[in-house]
Amino acid sequence: MQRYIVSVLMLAVLIPAHAAETKQHDKSNSVAKHQPDADARVLVKFPDHAQHFLATMRQNLSDINDIHRAIADANFERAAQIAEFNLGLGGIKTHNALAVDMPDGMRNMGMAFHQASSQLAQSLQQKDMAKTLDNLANVSQTCVMCHAMYRVR
Ligand code: HEC
Repeated sequence: MQRYIVSVLMLAVLIPAHAAETKQHDKSNSVAKHQPDADARVLVKFPDHAQHFLATMRQNLSDINDIHRAIADANFERAAQIAEFNLGLGGIKTHNALAVDMPDGMRNMGMAFHQASSQLAQSLQQKDMAKTLDNLANVSQTCVMCHAMYRVR
C-alpha cells in the first residue's frame, strides 16, 4: 500500500513536467510521432560532462549490485552506507554539477531517486526486511522511470 502511494505521488509530480518537455521535443521532431518504433525519450545535452554523467550511471548500477550482495550476506550496515552515501542524500553534493544542465522533470526524478535511496538506508539500518525490499523496488523504479523518459545521445 505504502509503495502504491509513493508510486502515485511520484507519477503525479513527474508526469506533468515530462509532458511539457515532450511537447517541446515533439515540435522539433513531429515525424517521430508517426513511427511506431520511434524513440520518444527526451534528448538532454550535457555539453561538458556527458562522460562524467554516464560514468556516474555505471557506478549507480555497481552500487545497486553491491547493495544486493551486502543484503544477501546480511551485512545491513554496509548496504545502508552505500545506499545513503553513494546513492542517497548523503552523497548529493558530488552530483550537484550534473543537476545544473538537467531539465526540471529530470532533476525532480534525480531527487526522487536520492530520496528513495535514503529511505532504503533507513530501513536497512532498522534491519526491517519487508520495508527494505519495498524501498529497494522504489529505488530501481526511479532508475527505470528516468531511463524511459530521457536520453543523452
Ligand atoms: C535522473 C534520471 C536517471 C536516474 C534516476 C537514473 N538514470 Fe541511469 N541513465 C539516465 C540517462 C538519461 C542515461 C543515458 C541513456 C541514453 O542516452 O541512452 C542513463 C544511462 C545509464 C547507464 C548506461 C551508462 C553507459 O555508460 O552507457 C546505466 C548502467 C545506468 N544509467 C544505470 C542506472 C541505475 C542502476 C540507476 C538507479 C540506481 C539509474 N541509472 C538512475 C538517467 C537516469
